[in-house]
Formats: sequence, structure tokens, C-alpha cells
Amino acid sequence: MPEPALSLESLLSDLEARARERIEAASTREELEAVRIEALGRKGTLAQVSKQLGSLPAEERARIGRLLNAVKQDLEQRLAARLAEFERRELEARLDAEWLDLTRPAPGPRPGSLHPITQLQYEIEDLFTSLGFTVLDGPEVETEYHNFDALNIPPDHPARDVQDTFWLVDGHLLRTHTSPVQVRGMEKFRPPLRMIAPGRVFRNEEVDASHEHTFYQVEGMMIDREVSVAHLIYFMKVLVNHIFRRETEVRLRPGYFPFVEPGFELDLACLVCNGRGCPVCKHTGWVEMLGCGLVHPNVLRMSGIDPEEWMGWAFGLGLTRLAMMRYGLDDIRWFQSGDLRFLRQF
Ligand code: PHE
Repeated sequence: MPEPALSLESLLSDLEARARERIEAASTREELEAVRIEALGRKGTLAQVSKQLGSLPAEERARIGRLLNAVKQDLEQRLAARLAEFERRELEARLDAEWLDLTRPAPGPRPGSLHPITQLQYEIEDLFTSLGFTVLDGPEVETEYHNFDALNIPPDHPARDVQDTFWLVDGHLLRTHTSPVQVRGMEKFRPPLRMIAPGRVFRNEEVDASHEHTFYQVEGMMIDREVSVAHLIYFMKVLVNHIFRRETEVRLRPGYFPFVEPGFELDLACLVCNGRGCPVCKHTGWVEMLGCGLVHPNVLRMSGIDPEEWMGWAFGLGLTRLAMMRYGLDDIRWFQSGDLRFLRQF
């Protein structure tokens, strides 16, 4: 019975040829696995052939058996080779995608810098300490007494209005200016006295390009036996020239603050628009830079200083406004934006 053996042999070679082709054509692991199961699996085509071996004469059975094994080994090798190829390609793709150059120099540390307002504050501190002034610090949460009463600001003064002042539920407030530090300075030290007090102040303002609810001031105060408006103007000129490093146009006009008499406001020619008019100077060409004047006798008296013996001048400088002038900035909101594109420029 050579017939069935012959047909088994050709069946095997057909099987092998087809399986080889499909192994070559496979483009994914899944396709490869499908070919393996179909040809070499427990119920696969080779297994079916091997089931028929039993019905063959012993000699044929041995020959076909060997053939079967050879086909099986051949296919197994080809499958393994293709699988290895897939794995190599996947690895290469991953290496390409996840490539990291360990020899590349690390980006150097980016040094931080002081906030522009802090820089300006430090410069002003340096100037005034060189002129014999002490730098004082005061609380941001203040008493009504220090922020208003002791500064001769009457109880019905509009500055106390809830519109402007952030009141705390316990009766304290967020200081609306650095002037309460004048009072604390006078309480703590005896005259003669030269002090400045930089710090953060708060007003309940609608925020826009030139107004913030939180901004910075520097307070200055000098108390001595012979103090005059001329002293005051001199110090203010030194201050402005120091900050802008050149002669800058300023104007002095009468200004009302309950804690000074006479009182003045010092304006700076707007450096954002060079006096032509812009939103920062409200199209006037001038920007209010500081309030100043001779300390009101009531203020001295309330802090236990005899106005017959001592007199003083004081100023309160808008540090934030000044920083805007210095850097030609037309929007106050940049300062507290936390925006690194802005901050890295300083
Ligand atoms: N405290 C005033 C203000 O905030 C400024 C000022 C200080 C005026 C000292 C005169 C003297 O506007």
C-alpha cells in the first residue's frame, strides 16, 4: 500500500510550503502565533498527519515519521527566527524612541534674582543707612490706633472708610500705609531720630493697570531740633537722583495729610511716556511719587515727644509706582503676577 504513504508525503510537503510562506508573510507576533497553532499545535495539521502514521506499514511509518519530524523542526526554527526578528525590531524601535544622551551637558542651574521691587527697596535702604537712618520694620496687621488715631487722622476721615481699608473681624486692619511705623519708631526710640520703614501695604482698591490692592511703600522720618522743609526737599532730591541716576524732573505741590503740616505731594515727570501722557500718569504727564511734610505737632505729642523741643519731617514713598517708572512698566499687575517671563528680566 504505497498510495497513502505517497499522499501523506505530498500532503506534508504542501503543509510545509504553505506554513513557510505564511511565516515569511507574517507581520506581527499574533500572525506568527496563529501559524504556529495551526501547523504545530495539538490539533494542528502536523498532529493530524501524525495520527495517520499508525495505519502505515512499519517501514513507511518510520520514514514518514522522520519526515514529519524534519518538517516540524524546520517550521519551529523558522518560527523562532521570525520571532527573534520581531523582538529585535521592537527593541530597536524602543531604543530609538527612548533614546537618552547621557553625555549631553546638563542645563546649568538658573540663578534666581531679587524681585525688582526688592532691589529698589534695598537700594533705598543703602542710601538712607549711608545717611545715618535706621531701617525699621512694622506689622502688616495693625491697630486702628497706629494706622489712624496716632497719625492725627480723625475718626470720620474718608481714609478709614471700609472702601479703602481691609478691616479684620477682631478690629485690627491691614495697614493702609507705612506711616504707622513712624509711630512705632517714636514709641521705641527717643529723638533725635532718623528712620525709614519699607513695607507692604493694602487698600481695598479696584485693580487695574495702575492700581493694586497690595503694594509697597517706604516711609521716612527725621526728628531733630532744627528741621525744615529745605531739609526735606534736599533729601527727596538726593533720593530721586539716586534712584534714577540722573537729574529727574519733579514738582512739589501742596498736599493734605492729617499727620503733616505743611504737607506736600511730590510728582515725578512720567517716565513711561516721558510726560506725553499715558494710562500710568492718567494722561497728565506727572505721577504722584510721594507724600511728605513736616510732622504735625499732634503726632509728636501723641507719641510722647514735645513739639516745643523737637520737630520733624516725614515722607511716604510709593515704591511700586517708582519701580514702574524706573523700568518703564505700564501695568502694575506684573509685579505680583509671579510670571517668570517678567521676573527673569531683573
Ligand atoms: N502715608 C501717606 C500715604 O500713604 C504718605 C505720607 C507719608 C505723606 C508721610 C506725608 C508724610 O499716602
